[in-house]
Amino acid sequence: MTRVFSGVKPTGHLTLGNYLGAMRQWAAEDQHRSDALFCVVDLHALTVDHDPARVRRLSRQSASLLLAAGLDPELCTVFVQSHVDEHARLSYVLECVATDGEMRRMIQYKEKAVRERERGGSVRLSLLTYPVLMAADILAYGTDEVPVGDDQAQHVELARDLAVRFNQRYGHTFVVPRATVPKVAARVMNLQDPTSKMGKSDDAGPGIVYLLDEPDTVRKKVMRAVTDSGREVVYDRQARPGLANLLEILAACTGGNPAELSGVYESYGALKKDTAEAVVEVLRPLQKRHKELCADPGYLEGVLRDGAERARAMARPTVDAAYRAIGLLEPASETVVNAAR
Ligand code: AMP
Ligand code: TRP
Repeated sequence: MTRVFSGVKPTGHLTLGNYLGAMRQWAAEDQHRSDALFCVVDLHALTVDHDPARVRRLSRQSASLLLAAGLDPELCTVFVQSHVDEHARLSYVLECVATDGEMRRMIQYKEKAVRERERGGSVRLSLLTYPVLMAADILAYGTDEVPVGDDQAQHVELARDLAVRFNQRYGHTFVVPRATVPKVAARVMNLQDPTSKMGKSDDAGPGIVYLLDEPDTVRKKVMRAVTDSGREVVYDRQARPGLANLLEILAACTGGNPAELSGVYESYGALKKDTAEAVVEVLRPLQKRHKELCADPGYLEGVLRDGAERARAMARPTVDAAYRAIGLLEPASETVVNAAR
């Protein structure tokens, strides 16, 4: 059976971009057709300036939103990265396969490092090595497919490169994974700045729709979305990014096609109104389920405990094999030691 692995970082409240670009496919398709693991990658949240209490809170909330979005612990494994030691264990070994130049070429690293420096902060070493930890997340499970938004494609490509290189040098150990990116809404853009990604952020984010935004907040944000000058509703990502973003969001929420939908609307106002309602309807059941889950914290704890146990059992043999292949001495088992005495 195909093995699928993906994750979300608890660095902020989850957004419509996370949902349309990733989580929705996990719930609607991946968990049904594959042996899938979905992970709250909390170690990755420590790569930038962070508040420990907030990371803890957001980790719990992200896990609960994964379930609210439809992930079913009977069908897939939902867990928290730091509960499974194999990720960090494998990451170090992969650091011995990756190169410094490779890390510095990562687009997300370059962008984030500039931002941290502009803020007057320093850049954590873990921000540079982050894609290696991500490769470890993926490779530890013998993953075939990694369903992600478009922004993560380069990181998955690196995981492929490391798998191939390790296998060539030390013998076949890892499955070589590939990214699967959704056809529509692979990159939902910020409603106020349609040339940049709708990412999690610390502020109220007038251009960011959060999964837990109230319906009226969602309506306000969509109605105030920046559109391009011009009157006609056409689908052109390059020339009319604001409009294209709304058409893609509407298409993703209603199962339509952005180019076809552009022919249906005569005004920006009507398009915005329908998009706002479509988003509100998509979020409604998710928010309801999230509320129910919050009322029963024991359930979530149980899901995460079982998930970590299952994940650990899946990752252990592959990580052990990588340790042996790269030249680390296998610890003797108790029976061998006793027999020798
Ligand atoms: P992150 O928020 O960086 O942890 O991302 C979790 C998943 O959501 C990854 O697969 C991302 O590629 C995806 N994702 C995040 N933001 C967006 C966006 N604006 N549009 C599409 N996918 C996104
Ligand atoms: N780097 C991913 C992001 O920012 C999150 C992530 C970490 C991930 N490990 C992963 C995604 C493994 C897929 C597979 O969105």
